[in-house]
Amino acid sequence: MEKIAVLDSGGQYCHLIARKVRELGVYAEILPVSAAPAKLERFKGIVLSGGPASVFADESPQPDSGLFQLDKPMLGICYGHQLMARYLGGTVERGETHEFGSADLRIRWHADLFAGLAGRQRVWMSHGDRVSELPPGFAALADTLQCGIAAMARPDRGLYGIQFHPEVAHTPNGLRMLCNFLEKVCGCRMDWRPRDRIEQLKRSIREQANGRRVLFFLSGGVDSMVAYTLTVQAVGSESAEAVYVDTGFMRSGETAEIEAAFRAMNLGKLQVVEASKMFLGRLQDVIDPEEKRAVIGKAFVDLQDEILAGERFRGHDWMLGQGTIYPDTIESGGTQSAAVIKTHHNRVERIQELIDEGRVLEPLAEFYKDEVRELGRALGLAPRLLARHPFPGPGLAIRCICNGAAARPEPDAEIAAVAEQWGYRSFLLPLRSVGVQGDSRSYAKLTVLHDGPLDYAGLLPAATAITNAFRRTNRIVAALAPQRLAVEDWRIERASLNAKRVSLLQAADRMVTEFLYREGLYSKVWQCPVVLLPFACAGGETIALRPITSVDGMTAAVAQLPPEALLALARRMRAIDGIDAVVYDISHKPPSTIEWE
Ligand code: XMP
Repeated sequence: MEKIAVLDSGGQYCHLIARKVRELGVYAEILPVSAAPAKLERFKGIVLSGGPASVFADESPQPDSGLFQLDKPMLGICYGHQLMARYLGGTVERGETHEFGSADLRIRWHADLFAGLAGRQRVWMSHGDRVSELPPGFAALADTLQCGIAAMARPDRGLYGIQFHPEVAHTPNGLRMLCNFLEKVCGCRMDWRPRDRIEQLKRSIREQANGRRVLFFLSGGVDSMVAYTLTVQAVGSESAEAVYVDTGFMRSGETAEIEAAFRAMNLGKLQVVEASKMFLGRLQDVIDPEEKRAVIGKAFVDLQDEILAGERFRGHDWMLGQGTIYPDTIESGGTQSAAVIKTHHNRVERIQELIDEGRVLEPLAEFYKDEVRELGRALGLAPRLLARHPFPGPGLAIRCICNGAAARPEPDAEIAAVAEQWGYRSFLLPLRSVGVQGDSRSYAKLTVLHDGPLDYAGLLPAATAITNAFRRTNRIVAALAPQRLAVEDWRIERASLNAKRVSLLQAADRMVTEFLYREGLYSKVWQCPVVLLPFACAGGETIALRPITSVDGMTAAVAQLPPEALLALARRMRAIDGIDAVVYDISHKPPSTIEWE
């Protein structure tokens, strides 16, 4: 079988590359970038992934010195492109500014990699360092405004390097470039097809369970439902137990909806556990988002221990089933050297111990959201259930932003100067949220743009320019209602998690979901977190809307919902008692994550 090796330098997108290669019909395997060259002999070609490190950092992942002596076609992506330049005698220099997001690529020479493509391409960039001098024998293929050597090649040896990411959906012709590399440069036949995945998965579930009883926590989301259905079909409902925990951080009406869906599909018995008091009690003083995740994970583990000590499991050997999918493991540092962006609730310490003991079943850990939906369809799950937006396990708890000390908005002259170029006023808020920049986690302040039109042609480039230039902010919002904010009247309040805040968020979230269905927008948006911020002018809070489009949650673009409908929604939301303002998140991922935390 023809195989491609994807060498992992810890990039968030490493597995995505492997998956795209498989989708294109060539089997791909992931190996660490330091893999011994002898191990790579059996591959038709090699892709070097991006990574969170700078090639200048002491501990940055390095290849074996013999890698580039191998007579194999190679494609270096981002960090991989820089490694290729450096090891073959070119120069890499530190960039003064970072380049994140969409860029316009001008192709000077197509060679094989860009065969059949137009001379201008939209590509996705996420880097600081750049290649400044070509290695001997190489030619530059393309540039962007900020990056002189955005692509280079030595076609006689099948060596190609590109600074951008062809594997993400936001490089629209990226798949075509990868296909060119596989077909034209590596000479692959492109005939590998994953057959019978479902039967194979069921066999593997039976083998792993090996007669043990499997306990599943269902969140109501697609992943846990598909994982559970597969498991029931593999081992029978006698050996699989589904528990739904009402943590108090679910969406309004969620419990009833999941119970009904479960009954309709005849999936055995669902146990519903009411635990909202316990969860809220443990979280009431927790401000830090990572700590929140740890507490939630621990609460699930404690419940799990209680259930396992109960009648249904007593005297039986057991294991825990989880609907973990690929991005969940990647963003928690699941690949060899990926940076930890956030700790997924499925990866807290105790779960990690159970994984080490071989007690965790994760049938979907190699799949992406779109593939999980496909599996669900094949298994016969209801279309409405499969079409639901992803909802994180920790639920609304991570969308309810907490804050330890009261503060005021901070005027920022440098950011204001950039915002002004697009016709907006701005200020910085010392309210931090999680982001992902250059493949690493960031936790930085929020920029608010206001007093200008809801016009994406101005807002989106303004947001990209600001996050590219200033590391002190990683997320930008535009004011929807009111559109102009008299800064002196606003402040950030001290805020923790409490029942009142959560029910305010539930009410706002319900209003947004109903709006999306009513306007026919639900299926056009991949996910729409609704977030509560303790930013107030009249004793209330602010709601942030975060509708995005995405293919797999690894990268995301701001969903450009119709401005008039959106403004009308924001005005209605502001009429809810306790909501002082509504803002719209206009940051792509990267640099911001989808959730705020
Ligand atoms: P971020 O915020 O990392 O989110 O851009 C990517 C996708 O993952 C979802 N997400 C989670 N899902 N448990 C889950 O089941 C979690 O702990 C979790 N954290 C993030 C998020 O909603 C988005 O779809």
